[in-house]
Amino acid sequence: MTKKIIVAGIGPGDEKFITPAALEKIRAAQFLAGGRRALETFSSASQITFPITKNLDAVINFIKEKILISQVVVMVSGDPGYYSMLDLLRRNFDAAIIEVIPSISALQLAFAKLALSWYDATLLSFHGRKPADEKLKFESGKVLGMLTDGEYNSATISKILIDLGWAGDTNLTICARLSYPNEKIISTTLDAAVKSEPVKHCVLIVGFKG
Ligand SMILES: C[S@@+](CC[C@H](N)C(=O)[O-])C[C@H]1O[C@@H](n2cnc3c(N)ncnc32)[C@H](O)[C@@H]1O
Repeated sequence: MTKKIIVAGIGPGDEKFITPAALEKIRAAQFLAGGRRALETFSSASQITFPITKNLDAVINFIKEKILISQVVVMVSGDPGYYSMLDLLRRNFDAAIIEVIPSISALQLAFAKLALSWYDATLLSFHGRKPADEKLKFESGKVLGMLTDGEYNSATISKILIDLGWAGDTNLTICARLSYPNEKIISTTLDAAVKSEPVKHCVLIVGFKG
């Protein structure tokens, strides 16, 4: 039987948001890769684990070595189809041996927190990238949902949006540490966020009507 690389979405972080399908694969894995926090939460002492860090070549080498022996489970945060290691894995391995288990994206949970539909929202990521101005610029009725990182945070992104035509008093919700006990949801405006302590690695929702 072909040994597979299972890319298991673990949801926004807390155990209660992982799907039973992902959990089953994670528990059955002999070889398990994931971020340090995911490994702390989901791995067991009997498993051979590999922490995913910025050294992505090391993860690929771990998978290449271990896939010769058994299937390898790679845990990624949120949904694998929305800005995860999946693209890198597709560049390094045949798609036929990759199995993806979808999960709840941090963006989905952020919209759910506001009881807001997201089918019409513009979803973008500032995680290690900056979306094109064309996608970010103000348009009447536009709602943005965005992933962030350390550099592109609640303050720097708010400034970028104001420069692209969004009014300073536009609603902004900052969703940090979603699903965790110390989750924080801040309702503010773009102007106020520019002047406040930046919140990093969160979800920003902009432009919705209260
Ligand atoms: C590499 S992206 C991964 C996105 C993931 N695939 C998803 O679907 O949510 C990492 C970014 O997702 C967001 N993120 C992930 N987990 C989060 C959480 N629990 N609360 C808030 N934002 C989160 C942050 O913007 C973080 O910088």
